[in-house]
Amino acid sequence: MFAPNLLEGRVALVTGGGTGICRGIALAFAAHGCDVAITSRTMEHLEPTVAELRATGRRAIAKAADVRDPAAVTDVVNATVAELGRLDILVNGAAGNFICLAENLSPNGFGTVVDIDLKGTFHVSKAALPHLRAHGGSVVNISATLPYLGTMGQSHAAAAKAGIDSLTRTLACEWGPYGIRVNGIAPGPIEGTEGVRRLTNEQSRESAIRGNPLGRMGTIDDIANASLFLCSEAASFVNGVTLVVDGGLWLRSARILGD
Ligand code: HXC
Repeated sequence: MFAPNLLEGRVALVTGGGTGICRGIALAFAAHGCDVAITSRTMEHLEPTVAELRATGRRAIAKAADVRDPAAVTDVVNATVAELGRLDILVNGAAGNFICLAENLSPNGFGTVVDIDLKGTFHVSKAALPHLRAHGGSVVNISATLPYLGTMGQSHAAAAKAGIDSLTRTLACEWGPYGIRVNGIAPGPIEGTEGVRRLTNEQSRESAIRGNPLGRMGTIDDIANASLFLCSEAASFVNGVTLVVDGGLWLRSARILGD
């Protein structure tokens, strides 16, 4: 674990912050001295987490918004700055997903996931820019290892996540001169998340553990710790990378020579 208070005096906005990986990131940030705003589509997802955040002694707010709506996310960003005083860190974690082969996927099904994951990341980043630019800051975009291989049933999500990694690299170059570092995290399967509940079964989870060089599934804490690193001064010269946090799982998908 890191030394305490890595993010003392900072303010973060975490999209998708009510549940799963992004709830874990929000709580880890608060534990390290950061005030936190969280957003997702429904207040129902946000209310228990904002109470947990406040219980850490930090200031926290929750605002409902759909990241597909640029005006709504601008309102959330502005409310964060109005109520918490500034914005230093943005975590783009809101995502949608389901399993569907491309041949069965409707144009709207493909577009919906691209709209949430990729375009949502763009909209929130753009809305946060004026505030991050005021004093420098850090953006972390959550993608996935799905696009590294031909993950069947994931044409929509893999394309969206690959687009996010591309956006990470471009914004790192465009916004680095403003003192804003833009990085990403590509988690492998993380236990206890909606994604893993929806996208895996007992058999695929067992194979993810058996096939992982570290012999286990990822945890929400694994991703929260990587986020802390990327948003802290410990990563002050890290810009434009997408950090794979999967225990080496996707590398093990390479065929054994001679197989
Ligand atoms: C095929 C589907 C579908 C399914 C929705 N669609 N679910 N198509 N199979 N299971 C299609 C619909 O038919 C529709 O197209 C279009 O997608 C939009 O669906 P709506 O339900 O109208 O959209 P909306 O209410 O906005 O919901 C968006 C959603 C939502 C993505 C579909 O259900 C959602 O957000 N779900 C999951 C959230 C989640 O799991 N987040 C964690 C992601 S984890 P038509 O043509 O009919 O209008 C992740 C990392 C993965 O991303 C890594 C794991 C290893």
